[in-house]
Amino acid sequence: MPTALPLRLGVNVDHVATLRNARGGRAPDPVRAALLAIEAGADGITAHLREDRRHIRDDDMARLKAEISKPLNFEMAATDEMVQIALATRPHACCLVPERREELTTEGGLDVVGQHNALAPAIARLSEAGIRVSLFIAADPAQIEMAARLRAPVIEIHTGGWCDAITDGHHDKAAAEWERIVAGARQAYAAGLEVHAGHGLDYATAEQIAALPEIRELNIGYFMMGEALFVGLAESVRTMRAAMDRGRARLGTAA
Ligand code: PXP
Repeated sequence: MPTALPLRLGVNVDHVATLRNARGGRAPDPVRAALLAIEAGADGITAHLREDRRHIRDDDMARLKAEISKPLNFEMAATDEMVQIALATRPHACCLVPERREELTTEGGLDVVGQHNALAPAIARLSEAGIRVSLFIAADPAQIEMAARLRAPVIEIHTGGWCDAITDGHHDKAAAEWERIVAGARQAYAAGLEVHAGHGLDYATAEQIAALPEIRELNIGYFMMGEALFVGLAESVRTMRAAMDRGRARLGTAA
């Protein structure tokens, strides 16, 4: 079993911008949320600059980079426009995701097997600029193998299918998805990749996945922002951190 390295929490602030944009003004400010999340224990901040700018906007990214003291993870589609913005912004990391205008959120993982020729130049340009590239993919053996061949240092496993199956009460599907995540994390770790995970995580699923020693970072947004409406953002971040710490403390027993 790999040595248990600390598990980082990346807080995704996209939906603070979603709320702000509903009225078109300046509040609530995603940068303020990022600063508060860091104070409450976040190890990094994640924001997704979508092609349609539906939540985070260009100046949010610039302000996040300028104002936060922790690593910024810039989620983006691997388009020329986004690569240019990332190269100008110089975040700590870029997470490449698939993007479709009609989707509500990032619904599937990146098809690195089908798109490796298109992804390779974006990975190279970002890596040459010293930006750590991660690929958001399903826990699928062929996708993981291709991610390693593309020499991206990090993958982020899409946990949305697992989380949805739990929410919908589809126990068999949830168990199968969980097995895929466990196997995928092991395969990626063995191939030398740093393994992250995210999408749809809540306190319970974050606690469960924190017990996988191969996983180094969780990126979580929507659930924590929803909780923040009731308990405040600092409290929802602290509760998430505590759930992850509980999971990490029982390493090896979750699989
Ligand atoms: N990781 C990636 C790559 C994502 O696209 C998202 C959603 O923006 C998340 C993590 C966070 O997902 P959620 O908001 O459901 O916690």
